[in-house]
Amino acid sequence: MNKMDFGNTFIWGVSTAAYQIEGAWNEDGKGESIWDRFTHTKGILPFRSRIYQNHNGDIACDHYHRYREDLQLMRELHIPNYRFSIAWTRIFPDGTKKSKNQKGIDFYHRLIDCCLENQITPNVTLYHWDLPQALEEQGGWTNRETYQRFLDYVDFVTREYRDKVPRWFIFNEPFVFTTLGYMLGIHAPGKMGLSNYYPSIHHVCLAQGEGGKIAKSNCPDAEIGTTFSCIHVEPKQSNSIFSDLHKSAAIRFDTLFNCLFLETMLGLGYPIDRLPSLKVILDKYFQQDDDKKMQFDADFVGVQNYTREIVEWSLFVPVVWGNIVPAKKRCEKTTEMGWEIYPEGIYHILKKYASYEKVKKIYVTENGAAFRDELEIKDGKVIINDIARIDFIQSYLAQVLRAKREGVPVEGYFIWSFMDNFEWAEGYRPRFGLVYVDYQTQKRYVKNSGYWYKSFLEGNAEF
Ligand code: FCB
Repeated sequence: MNKMDFGNTFIWGVSTAAYQIEGAWNEDGKGESIWDRFTHTKGILPFRSRIYQNHNGDIACDHYHRYREDLQLMRELHIPNYRFSIAWTRIFPDGTKKSKNQKGIDFYHRLIDCCLENQITPNVTLYHWDLPQALEEQGGWTNRETYQRFLDYVDFVTREYRDKVPRWFIFNEPFVFTTLGYMLGIHAPGKMGLSNYYPSIHHVCLAQGEGGKIAKSNCPDAEIGTTFSCIHVEPKQSNSIFSDLHKSAAIRFDTLFNCLFLETMLGLGYPIDRLPSLKVILDKYFQQDDDKKMQFDADFVGVQNYTREIVEWSLFVPVVWGNIVPAKKRCEKTTEMGWEIYPEGIYHILKKYASYEKVKKIYVTENGAAFRDELEIKDGKVIINDIARIDFIQSYLAQVLRAKREGVPVEGYFIWSFMDNFEWAEGYRPRFGLVYVDYQTQKRYVKNSGYWYKSFLEGNAEF
């Protein structure tokens, strides 16, 4: 199999996100985001920090200052598409349009121009989790007002850069930032409980639908879509009386993980038939015409997939009434994130998404793996022979192709990530990059997976 098996309109790229790579957290007028605050605040429990070894994104990969070299390297690797996110706090430091910050606006002009000079197409995510802290102080996504502020931001940014950006992503993984940030407290802003979770879900659904419509009307010739975290879910196998309970727990997990934010956007409403707890949203937070507001006729949907989950029934976990069986308990080998390597999962997810009538086109906007990369010096050259990552990407790609051959309209694939970066609560420990970053010196070293991707993109690598 080689690149041409995917056809010549299939797009290839790499993904990153502002907070994970930029650094320069308080430079040139940038405002504080919830991730700045979260990483700078000690955990409630003295023996456990919120973030692995108290790492933060203050400097990260220093991409804010080094984007020219990074894009040069991307060009040398023949990567034609770069998906990155804009930090809302560089554009509007306090989240509102009256705080407009020209230096931040100029930075993204320079970044986008630099992509274009290197023949790299900019693919822009509008929100990859870094909400302005000033908005969080007024409730963040639990506050309906936040969605209005998001629309102002989307309106401004899509007008500002519309002549140069052909593809926009409204959100990155709404399920993850609402669940980890507003229900479980593992990610910024660290809120917990259903009274935060339900309103944040609803306001994000509104922002997704209305944001999409604004972006489309400002950029009629661009492709507008959004991205979802997708996980193939299976029930725990059992011959006991619990078997049916595990199966229904698996349906609830699948609905929450994979369907909620997609179906509301497609105009199908909240999937209350499969996840009855969501009815609270209708009773408490839903206003007249919200169903229309949540709808958006996206040009594509972005699928992001890394692993699968096995679930079992439980009486103790509200909403889903089930638990995830940790991959470490059931698999011999996992990635550095503790995630199972399960290539067929991406095939099942692609088939599932393609089965929705209104899904027109799918891009895989993130896929990749963290492994413990070892640096070797051979003949004075640094070599990182990350065979496991190459195997991972090849096996997942084979499943993407399988789905495509069966008629799934999948038209693109982006690797997470271009370079190692700040992996949220896991800090800098997991390395996902095609390019190794030495955080002490900020030197970049292309891993063998990066060289493999290059020759694949040149049409030379078969697998
Ligand atoms: C996804 C996120 C991305 C990165 C990868 C590993 O859920 O979108 O920022 O953390 O996981």
